[in-house]
Amino acid sequence: MSLMEWADDRYGTNVDLCDNQHKELFSRVNALNDAVINRDRSDIGNRLDNLVDFVVKHFETEERLMEERGYSGLDHHRQEHDLLVRTCTDIQDKFHAGEMDVEEITMTHIKNWLDHHIPVIDKLYGPTLSN
Ligand SMILES: [Fe+2]
Ligand SMILES: [Fe+2]
Repeated sequence: MSLMEWADDRYGTNVDLCDNQHKELFSRVNALNDAVINRDRSDIGNRLDNLVDFVVKHFETEERLMEERGYSGLDHHRQEHDLLVRTCTDIQDKFHAGEMDVEEITMTHIKNWLDHHIPVIDKLYGPTLSN
């Protein structure tokens, strides 16, 4: 079973561009999780970089859309994003420096963050960004 399974009712924001990016995010999280399960260090490194690249791209997209629409929750939303980007780049730096491995617990942390952020924080921009 995949670590992250898409469900419209749980994760849908009513903003197609964001939903599609969230699906891509899930697919990259799952790809990284597979490499973690297989304990393939070079694969883990590639998929980790792939995931972090897309996380940054996705957050830039959301923040641009929120800015364009004058969304009032932007500052708080951006703080949440910054926190995950810092966590991800810290993992990335330490992993590539050989100071840590990406393990199941790391994946659980990423999953828990997404499981909170998308249904609780992202969903709030739906009404502002979808019309
Ligand atoms: Fe977000
Ligand atoms: Fe998002």
